Amino acid sequence: MALFGKNKKDTDNSIDIRENLPAHVGIIMDGNGRWAKKRGLPRSAGHSAGAKTFRKITRYCSDIGIKYLTVYAFSTENWRRPDEEVNALMTLFKSYLEEALEDFKDDSIVVRFIGDKSQFNPALQKLMIENEESSKDRDGMVLNIAMNYGSRDEIVRAVKNICNDVQNGKISEASIDEKLVSDYLYTSGQPDPDLIIRPSGEYRISNFMLWQSAYTEFVIMNKLWPDFDKADLDEALNIFASRNRRYGGV
Ligand code: IPE
Ligand code: IPE
Ligand code: MG
Repeated sequence: MALFGKNKKDTDNSIDIRENLPAHVGIIMDGNGRWAKKRGLPRSAGHSAGAKTFRKITRYCSDIGIKYLTVYAFSTENWRRPDEEVNALMTLFKSYLEEALEDFKDDSIVVRFIGDKSQFNPALQKLMIENEESSKDRDGMVLNIAMNYGSRDEIVRAVKNICNDVQNGKISEASIDEKLVSDYLYTSGQPDPDLIIRPSGEYRISNFMLWQSAYTEFVIMNKLWPDFDKADLDEALNIFASRNRRYGGV
């Protein structure tokens, strides 16, 4: 049973988790394709199942008091997939932006998109902007949906913008420090992720939050994303709570 479930009895363990709850959680939503393959279904069926998990886990994170959740939905490298799969993903994104994100209204969730929106079709871009606009004054959890996101791309963009701002006199070269670089990333103003969870058992970061994850705790889980449930999130939070973060100190 989920540790944070409505009917749970407080155990010492769960109290500990609550005290050590990460402010910012990142999730690399991986394993949709393998989930579908195991069932003899097309990969697109795995993406639909993964989208349902996204909805459930996002609400759960908001319910238990996570302040920032960043989910990796589509990378700058995912365009390399067959057209059929990319098209199915775009259709899924569109229906989610039209319907499912409405759900998050009740939870006061602020929806933001991180990544380069300009490569999506205009209708999708419009929906992304509308979702950001309509949710920006809410006071709940901030949900960053990483779409056409690549951290190297994000850093290149930041470097270009910093160069421009130095050239046009907006900032001085001397003012460039770690804080300023962070402020030029998509996650500007947000705390770095404390915990990044990768389901599906892959031990890699796949171009996700490279700068921001300098001192992030990683939890790799074997479940495929469509099968990931509240208890798995609790398990990741439990592991996180037991970690000793030293930030280079002793
Ligand atoms: C993650 O699942 C979703 C996206 C990258 C869009 P995958 O589609 O990568 O699933 P696997 O890794 O092939 O199982
Ligand atoms: C990372 O998963 C991107 C998302 C989950 C959106 P991938 O499936 O694209 O990563 P690799 O190719 O296994 O590294
Ligand atoms: Mg994958």
